[in-house]
Amino acid sequence: MTEPVVHSALVWAVLLLGPVTAGLLLVISAPYGRHGRAGWGPTISARLAWIAMESPSVLVFLVVYWLGDHRAAPTAVVLFALWQVHYVHRTFIYPFRIRSAGKRTPLVIALLAFVFTFVNAYINARWVAHFGSYETGWLSDPRFLLGSLLFVLGMVVNLQSDTILLRLRKPGQTGYQVPMGGLYRWVSCPNYLGEILEWVGWAIATWSLPGLAFAVYTVCNLAPRARTHHLWYREKFPEYPQERKALIPFVF
Ligand SMILES: NC(=O)c1ccc[n+]([C@@H]2O[C@H](COP(=O)([O-])OP(=O)(O)OC[C@H]3O[C@@H](n4cnc5c(N)ncnc54)[C@H](OP(=O)(O)O)[C@@H]3O)[C@@H](O)[C@H]2O)c1
Repeated sequence: MTEPVVHSALVWAVLLLGPVTAGLLLVISAPYGRHGRAGWGPTISARLAWIAMESPSVLVFLVVYWLGDHRAAPTAVVLFALWQVHYVHRTFIYPFRIRSAGKRTPLVIALLAFVFTFVNAYINARWVAHFGSYETGWLSDPRFLLGSLLFVLGMVVNLQSDTILLRLRKPGQTGYQVPMGGLYRWVSCPNYLGEILEWVGWAIATWSLPGLAFAVYTVCNLAPRARTHHLWYREKFPEYPQERKALIPFVF
């Protein structure tokens, strides 16, 4: 089997995994964070889990990108920078910002996420640096401009919203409060909304099937979790703001 065939098969696998994941998450909440529970086998620290789960997004992407024929093309370099800015933070900075004393993540969840991020980093890096072919003129194409704008906007929303959550706890605390401010005025999970905007932006900026596959997967993964978080907030906090939606202001 040639590499383009393998690459294409993996892209379609990620694309199909999205709806399967959404279906499962509507029935079973992913057992980490507030929805963590016993019965999922051995566990590792939440911080280590984040680093392990996300490290392929940085390292596999870096190596695969470096092996690509177009690695020095200006457009590929800009796309590389967008991806790495997000994932260097998520892998090596975010895990040290969370206040997760004593919190554990099931090993099986970390392993599944590791396999996913490995494949996802490969399909996207290989496309950007090798199978895709972006002229420098792509940098002024409306699809690239709109996609990059959405990506940056999403990153700002994601970082701001995560920061509001992380400040709710003092060092050593692990409880939950009702988040206020920023986009929490309208939705329970603006961090997920920001993340979704980022990867929809990536899909548009790369105008590629690997990018689309990851955007679809992100929506399928985070929309059900936003719904689960939202219902959890409503149940746990009777005073929870009634007008607040789960993920999309005024809609859902
Ligand atoms: N691309 C993807 O498919 C994908 C998948 C998953 C996550 N992510 C991103 O990874 C980041 C973290 O995801 P997550 O699922 O862990 O998000 P989360 O459930 O919103 O939690 C984020 C952090 O804030 C804490 N926290 C949340 N709500 C809180 C509250 N009401 N009071 C006090 N502390 C609170 C959590 O603690 P606990 O852990 O103790 O609950 C956790 O440390 C997000 O930016 C998300 O977009 C992306």
